[in-house]
Parts: sequence; C-alpha cells; structure tokens
Amino acid sequence: MHRRLNIRRSGLLVATLALALFACRAPRPLTEAEIAAGTALSSVVADRFQAQLIDRLQETIASDGMVAAIHVCAEEAPAIAGQLSAETGATVRRTALRNRNPAAVPDGLEAAVMAQWEGDPLEPGSGRPRRHSVVERDGGGERLRFLRAIPAAPQCLACHGPADMLAPEIRAAIAERYPEDRATGFAAGDLRGAFSITWTAEALRGALARGG
Ligand code: HEC
Repeated sequence: MHRRLNIRRSGLLVATLALALFACRAPRPLTEAEIAAGTALSSVVADRFQAQLIDRLQETIASDGMVAAIHVCAEEAPAIAGQLSAETGATVRRTALRNRNPAAVPDGLEAAVMAQWEGDPLEPGSGRPRRHSVVERDGGGERLRFLRAIPAAPQCLACHGPADMLAPEIRAAIAERYPEDRATGFAAGDLRGAFSITWTAEALRGALARGG
C-alpha cells in the first residue's frame, strides 16, 4: 500500500516535470482576442506610418520641390519604419511586387497576398485598402502577420507613373539613386504596395500589455 502510493507519487512528479518542460518549450498560442487586438493595433501602426510619410512628403515638395522629396523619401521612409519598429516591438516595413528600394522585395506571404490584391486594392463594400492578417506557426513559435494594401493616388504618379511621363529631372534622380527601380508605370487606383507588420507572440503581448 505504502509502496504503491510512492510509485503513484513519483509518476505524478514525472508528469508534472514533463508538463513544465513542455510549457517552457511551447509558449501559449495566441488567442482569438489577442489576434483581433493585434490586427487593430497593426492598423493603427500602418496609419501612423502613412500619415508621417505623407506629412514629410508634402512638406518637402512644398518647400524644396519634387526632386528633394525623392531624397526625403529615400532617407525618411526607412527611418520612420525603423522608429515604429523600435517603439512597438513589431517589424514594420513597406513592400511591393514592383519595388524601388531593393530592401522592399516581398517574402512568400507578402508576394502571394499582393498578387491577389493587384487588380483591386480596395475592399468592395467600404472602399478602404484591403487588409490581411494571419498567424504563421513554425519551429520558432508564432508570428502575427498583418498586411495592408497601399493604392497609388494621383499625387504619387509624379514619381511612380509611367516612366516616359516623369519629369526628366525626377527620372534622372531616381535612376541615380535606384538603378534597379521597378516602381514606375503605375496608374491611380493600382496597387502600389503594402504595409507589412510582423509581431512575434512575445512582442505582441508586450505591446498589448502597454496598451498598444
Ligand atoms: C517625390 C517622389 C515620390 C512620390 C511623390 C511618391 N514616392 Fe513612393 N517612393 C519614392 C522613393 C524615392 C521610394 C524609395 C524609398 C525607400 O527607399 O524606401 C519610394 C518607395 C515607395 C514604396 C515602398 C516600396 C518600394 O517600391 O520601394 C511605396 C509602397 C510607395 N513608394 C508608395 C507611394 C505612394 C502610395 C505615393 C503617393 C501617396 C508615393 N509613393 C509617392 C518616391 C516617391
């Protein structure tokens, strides 16, 4: 009797240890509520990225002209992305199927989602840019991926319109800075690219705990 109890106890101990080990290795999966909150937070981050960039672009175009704005875009877009990444803990970037910045080449998920959006970057009902969020799972844990379409507006075409319609000094400045540029030939309403925001489960929980 006494002995049997001991065996049971040690069995329990082994089970508890195994559970503890398992719990250490496999972090708690993201809940539906965390995914929904992470998607909403990603939208806010994309809004901030867009607003800051458009502010800087308009300021520079007004004060120093379009060619200067190319340099601002080149310096500031990655800087804003870096600052939002540092602040939120997510990886924040822009990407495009036809990219200008060589670092904006899409990964598999980004390319597949943008290919679906290419004909029509807006949601049919709301007319807002399309969004996609998905949890990726692999050996390294979970990541919440969020993408939001960036449609080309008429004011973008000075630098992203058909190459033969760009002002010669703009074409020259782009060619000098981005010899491999693929980001011309767009019309207003085309899909120009996407905001792409990636959270590890840990980074997302941290941001949600800080209140976004
Ligand atoms: C003054 C010229 C200029 C204007 C106007 C402009 N862009 Fe760009 N765009 C650039 C440059 C330069 C880059 C490369 C920036 C970088 O290095 O990240 C770029 C990059 C991008 C990217 C990142 C992906 C890539 O191809 O590298 C997107 C998305 C984008 N632009 C969208 C837009 C949209 C939408 C508008 C209009 C609201 C716009 N741009 C207006 C010059 C411009």
